[in-house]
Amino acid sequence: MNSYNAAQAREMTSKVLIKNGRVIDPSAGLDGRLDVLVEGDSITGVSADIKLQGDAEIIDARGCIVTPGLVDCHVHLRESGRQGGEDAEKARETIRSGTRAAAKGGFTTVLCEPNTTPPVDSCKRVDELQKRIAGTGLVKTYVKASMTLDMQGQDITDIKGLSGHPLVKALSEDGNPVVEEKLMGEVCRLAAENNLPLSCHSEDSSFSLTKRSKRLGFRPGEDFHNEPNFIARDVLLAEANRAQIHLSHVSMTESLEIIRRAKKRSRTPVTCEVTPHHLLLEDSFRDPGGLRAIVNPPLRSRGDRDALLEALKEGIIDVIASDHAPHREEDKKAGTPGFIGLETTLGLVLTRLVQPGIISLMHAIRMMSSTPSAIFRLNGGSLKKGARADITVIDPEREWMVDTAKFESLSRNCPFEGWRLRGQSVAVIVGGRIVMRDGELT
Ligand code: DOR
Repeated sequence: MNSYNAAQAREMTSKVLIKNGRVIDPSAGLDGRLDVLVEGDSITGVSADIKLQGDAEIIDARGCIVTPGLVDCHVHLRESGRQGGEDAEKARETIRSGTRAAAKGGFTTVLCEPNTTPPVDSCKRVDELQKRIAGTGLVKTYVKASMTLDMQGQDITDIKGLSGHPLVKALSEDGNPVVEEKLMGEVCRLAAENNLPLSCHSEDSSFSLTKRSKRLGFRPGEDFHNEPNFIARDVLLAEANRAQIHLSHVSMTESLEIIRRAKKRSRTPVTCEVTPHHLLLEDSFRDPGGLRAIVNPPLRSRGDRDALLEALKEGIIDVIASDHAPHREEDKKAGTPGFIGLETTLGLVLTRLVQPGIISLMHAIRMMSSTPSAIFRLNGGSLKKGARADITVIDPEREWMVDTAKFESLSRNCPFEGWRLRGQSVAVIVGGRIVMRDGELT
């Protein structure tokens, strides 16, 4: 790729021509050697050998893959409307650092979870956040609003009001299910009425364990093994209310069976996602310091991991999402769950899933762009003429090593430190604007 001065180029022209790449667009079933022309914030041409009229910024994508902008629909940026700047920095991620990490990792779009301090539980909070995103966000940033006020599982948020906010794309109670069944039923009814997808977390965290509903068939004594029970319940409630339901970071064999059956019944749209760490690591995994890698849901058995990989091949899993969860070193040492993932997901998927032939490149790109974009209606995931110009250019041969010291994220809690990967994004265009090229952010 040529070196260039992005600011200078942008002043000169608002056209970008991506030449000679292998264009893969799952939304159009397209896979071919083509050029892509961007004018303003839209794609205006996808065809062989586009001839330029006037000036344009040229990206020579020979040997590279050109895809719809990648979408990560499960991201934690710790900055809230209220708790910004310094506090978020202490919490090891700001909108600035997190969206820079996203761009570096090839993502043009992130959808953030509401479990900030305070949580995203009202239009006022979303407005505050929107100001911060407008000020420092580098990629398109949307949010999920919480299902209950202050995420306490007691009083439902103003779902009608939230559904009208352009930034809000789903409802999530990150880290917990809504334990009370009646309340969850009402959340489903309101979500359906207001056309907002539910993004369900089916973990039995300490919070939800203290609120155990006796009617659920919990397996006592086995924390974090109730994922299939919550998934079964939430799918039934969503079906009864005709609500759209997306299941976050699925991790157990039994959960997959429930989802498989629900998809077959097809009473309401049911989709699910899996993380790279649940696909690639298992409970025996220890980090280089010999410590267990702590995350929610936890890393599972070899059998669960094999089932996830099977479900991935079968097409039961719709999306790969990172659950990028930044934490301070001292908090990790104290057992706080979560891994960062924005800067490793693409390389891991290419190296560990596509290159060994577990899934095709088209399938991988679909799960990381068109499908999450369609599920959450993010106006992306396509390279068709007229589409918004969110584009990722990937060098599939680029070899690199995971070195968190070089990451844009302010956190270092990555279980893949030192892994050698092949395949990395080399350019990212958001709404027609080049925000990353050759690893350099604008
Ligand atoms: O490990 C996790 N950490 N899982 C979640 O669902 C939440 C996340 C966090 O916010 O740190």
